[in-house]
Amino acid sequence: MHSLLLGSVLALILAGPAVAQGAFSPRDEQVEDLPAGAGRDETFGLCTACHGFKLVSSQGMSRQQWDSTLDWMTERHGMPAVEGADRNRILDYLAEHYPPRAPARAGGFKNPFAPQ
Ligand code: HEC
Repeated sequence: MHSLLLGSVLALILAGPAVAQGAFSPRDEQVEDLPAGAGRDETFGLCTACHGFKLVSSQGMSRQQWDSTLDWMTERHGMPAVEGADRNRILDYLAEHYPPRAPARAGGFKNPFAPQ
């Protein structure tokens, strides 16, 4: 009887991590890894509810593009809609720390006489 009970408890424990396998583990990333700034905690908390922050930080977008991304997350992926001051904080954070990286992406030749 005892061993049967122990057996099922063990099975439960072993089944736990197996279910989460392949899913994003919050332990992989820490909010402290992100550049410090207003809105960091909110942004990290909101976005990592579904996916790793790498998916976010590997992008570089304008504030307007981040704005549409938030809409897209809500409409397509069921993210709770974020409005008002919270949305502004998150957009400010994203736009400041993950801006478009066009020059790096375009790479190659840069006209030294082009106006800065
Ligand atoms: C309710 C779940 C959910 C939340 C919350 C969420 N996302 Fe997403 N997001 C997704 C899903 C699902 C995908 C698609 C994943 C994939 O392509 O593997 C995705 C993909 C992305 C992508 C990648 C798009 C591409 O080109 O591959 C970006 C950028 C992104 N999310 C930004 C954000 C930001 C910024 C936040 C926080 C403000 C956020 N997401 C919050 C569900 C969510």
